[in-house]
Amino acid sequence: MKKQTLILFALAVCCMVNPARAQQPVYLDESRDLEERVQDALSRMTLEEKVKLCHAQSKFSSGGVPRLGITELWMSDGPHGVREEIQWNSWGNAGWTNDSCTAFPALTCLAATWDPEMSALYGRAIGEEARYRRKDVLLGPGVNIYRTPLNGRNFEYMGEDPHLASVLVVPYIQEMQKNGVAACVKHYALNNQELWRGHIDVELSDRALYEIYLPAFKASVHEGGAWSIMGAYNKVRGQHACHNELLLQKILKQDWGFDGCVITDWGGAHDTREAALYGLDIEMGSYTNGLTSESEFNYDDYYLARPYLDMLKNGEVPLSTIDDKASRILRLIFRTAMNSQRPWGSFATEEHAEVARRIGEEGTVLLKNAAPDKKTSPLLPIDGSKYDRILVVGENATRSLTQGGGSSELKVKEEISPLAGLQAVYGDKIVYAKGYMSGRSMYSNIEEIPASVMDSLRADAVAQAREADLVIYVGGLNKNHQQDCEAGDRITYGLPFGQNELIEEVLQVNKNMVMVLISGNAVEMPWIKKVPAIVQSWYLGSQGGHSIANILSGEVNPSGKLPFSFPVKLSDNGAHAFDYMSYPGDSIRQIYKEDILVGYRWHDTKKIPALFPFGHGLSYTTFAYGKSQADKVTLAGADDRIVVTVPVRNTGNVTGKEVVQLYIGEEKSAVLRPVKELKGFHKIELQPGEEKVVSFTIEPEDLMYFDEDLHDWKADPGKFKAYIGSSSTDIRSTLSFVLQ
Ligand code: BGC
Repeated sequence: MKKQTLILFALAVCCMVNPARAQQPVYLDESRDLEERVQDALSRMTLEEKVKLCHAQSKFSSGGVPRLGITELWMSDGPHGVREEIQWNSWGNAGWTNDSCTAFPALTCLAATWDPEMSALYGRAIGEEARYRRKDVLLGPGVNIYRTPLNGRNFEYMGEDPHLASVLVVPYIQEMQKNGVAACVKHYALNNQELWRGHIDVELSDRALYEIYLPAFKASVHEGGAWSIMGAYNKVRGQHACHNELLLQKILKQDWGFDGCVITDWGGAHDTREAALYGLDIEMGSYTNGLTSESEFNYDDYYLARPYLDMLKNGEVPLSTIDDKASRILRLIFRTAMNSQRPWGSFATEEHAEVARRIGEEGTVLLKNAAPDKKTSPLLPIDGSKYDRILVVGENATRSLTQGGGSSELKVKEEISPLAGLQAVYGDKIVYAKGYMSGRSMYSNIEEIPASVMDSLRADAVAQAREADLVIYVGGLNKNHQQDCEAGDRITYGLPFGQNELIEEVLQVNKNMVMVLISGNAVEMPWIKKVPAIVQSWYLGSQGGHSIANILSGEVNPSGKLPFSFPVKLSDNGAHAFDYMSYPGDSIRQIYKEDILVGYRWHDTKKIPALFPFGHGLSYTTFAYGKSQADKVTLAGADDRIVVTVPVRNTGNVTGKEVVQLYIGEEKSAVLRPVKELKGFHKIELQPGEEKVVSFTIEPEDLMYFDEDLHDWKADPGKFKAYIGSSSTDIRSTLSFVLQ
């Protein structure tokens, strides 16, 4: 039989065996190519049906095409757990009793693990939870770069370095999407402060844009394969980010070839024409009233609803715009809601709690560990047998930190507080004094709390500290408005709620203090020299108390590293080294004056030491780095590679993990370049006495900067230096090489 006849014969047999399949339209046939299905569905839809795909039908869903059996899309926040069910048409909760999730640690903590494996675990587990809750799109992860410690939403992001954020975001997306749940990477782009987030117009150089603020989004698309992206609230170069020609149309869709959907941030659309032309696909949350009688403005009045339909019908915007949007939305629906092969997911399981605990432990950073007086050993880990009375001080020891903060707030099945975690380890040796309070309301701050209340809380803590053998202070920021919280920035760099005074007074009566700072941001530490041991903990989610107690007790050896620098004072941070136009702007516009020198790039280049540098984090053991070696010292061409190796040995008595970091800098350059930039890292585990050889590959790409004249990436021939170390300032070995 000829080949053609054979195919026809096979098709005929197939139809006889499965007559339903013969009649099934192409778009419903999951064995067919995705693009074929999209085009087939598109060809069957009316203009009205296509437009209906492009906007919300409720607070967190968009409609499908019921006539064709094309289903709705259901979305949820994100990014640290699956948000409780919200009402159809208001921000109020729906009052469900089966939606209490696992809270995973905040993404700052994930970044502090410096471990892509943790990121994969995170993505898989949160994807399973989202799937179980029948969500098709999870609104996260967030990869906006940490530009200033005042940004209220830094806790939802992955730190100040584009390479670190890029490496860590990819496995999160990949593993989550294996559940048939789309990641919606946010907030694209330049949403680096919450103050005036709805309208501030960001001006920055192309270099800063391409080198610092875009790489993690690009990695999300190219390597992570993200199916959707959320536009930011702010403006960029004069146009709102949710319908921004440069960001969406040119860079994301044209240059990066993104085939997924751009979804607005809630209420981020402002103009029908721009939304039609400049890359927006799904409009969500415009105003908040929707179908209620509170407003005339309902879902059909959205910019991408009737007004868009009218413009299409009148020929004011091309029909190709709607076909492009509808295709992208269909692709998203087929990948998620109409993927019959996706697993069922699971929710608030023990396995997920375990994942949350592990990530919390891997991301906790030991900032400092000294002895209270120079004669004895470091204060941490805490050997319970040495103490009769351990006083825990601070509101964060008992406060629910999965609540507050804005859209990332979670309703949890379980939340282990730091106090409960410590009690589980040290039993009734633990006593507690609150020491300060902050209130719960979104708008509360210290001024609202009567001085007499604060005075008595402080006096009680000091009195108890006098009687205690050890003090564990658990404070920091919380998720109140103007702390680590959406829709507002912090107003000061210092600790709020009178904590500095409290800490000083407690230290006067008891020097044995272990400080556990809970925050998503750096804070000022005027008492730094007096506190022997400091642990940076983050918002750790459901199992936070166990994670903290395991670190403090030494059950787990700390291995987290800072994903951002802690400046001594605010003006030491690049964004704050200039006038108000750099931060926060004049309420209309702002200019990123520190340019590419964000975070450690600023500290290094301007020789301003950080209090704790990027990449810093101690362990209960010590690591010795041997001499690094390179297989050659010249990169001859685009395909050439240098392999660098360095032996690292555990020289202490306990097993530990070290993050070995590679930075590269150009010795002399025609353009401004940071002293060095992170280009690689490996987290390794070593038994006492064990040595491992860590290897890095250096490629010409690692040496490039974005040339504004060329409008492309470029590396200039010359001398470069590789720095290998335990943090961005603790460099243990360097190597010089040449790019020909
Ligand atoms: C936030 C987004 C969030 C959305 C939906 C917005 O206010 O900026 O991050 O996903 O609300 O809750």
